[in-house]
Amino acid sequence: MCRIKKIMFGEDELKRIVSDLADKINSDIKREGIEKLTLLCVLKGAAVFTSDLARRLDVPDLRLEYIRASSYGMGDVSRGKVEINGLTSEIRGADVLVVEDIIDTGRTLAQMREYLKEKSPKSLRFCGLFDKPDRRAADFEADYIGVRIPDEFIVGYGLDYAEKFRHLPYVAVVEPSGAIENDK
Ligand code: IMP
Ligand code: MG
Repeated sequence: MCRIKKIMFGEDELKRIVSDLADKINSDIKREGIEKLTLLCVLKGAAVFTSDLARRLDVPDLRLEYIRASSYGMGDVSRGKVEINGLTSEIRGADVLVVEDIIDTGRTLAQMREYLKEKSPKSLRFCGLFDKPDRRAADFEADYIGVRIPDEFIVGYGLDYAEKFRHLPYVAVVEPSGAIENDK
């Protein structure tokens, strides 16, 4: 069983990070006169973050939609290949803000950008709660970042290790353990 090593962000810190992000997004949206916004949550990791962020956004017509991306197998080692599917609504002509839990190599969102561009949204922006810039392998930078973190594997607040720990109200670092098969 893999172990929690240390807490990186407690509940209050997470609240502050999300609220600062929402302030930035709100002021851009207001300045640009956007009245209808599609918040596109990347499942499953961004579900918790999206529900908190959505409730702080000040848009008259906010649509909450979902899409699925999986780049990791059952552990903490990326397989490199990204699968994208399950978009819950048409986004043609919409102002879309994609909400992701963490940007690591950048492959998921780089491929997501190509996938969504083909669907002709009016505008397409990306928001990541966490960013590990040291790990970047693809050419991708988000429009909004909550906080940059060092190269450590984190769980909680929606983020998982092999589907575990998503429910933790805080974000913690887990002990690196390699393949999940050796981790029972
Ligand atoms: P990327 O394609 O390498 O940028 O990976 C992004 C995806 O990998 C995220 O959506 C997460 O699901 C997962 N991921 C990357 N780093 C972590 C981490 O530290 N904890 C949990 N999931 C992570
Ligand atoms: Mg994940």
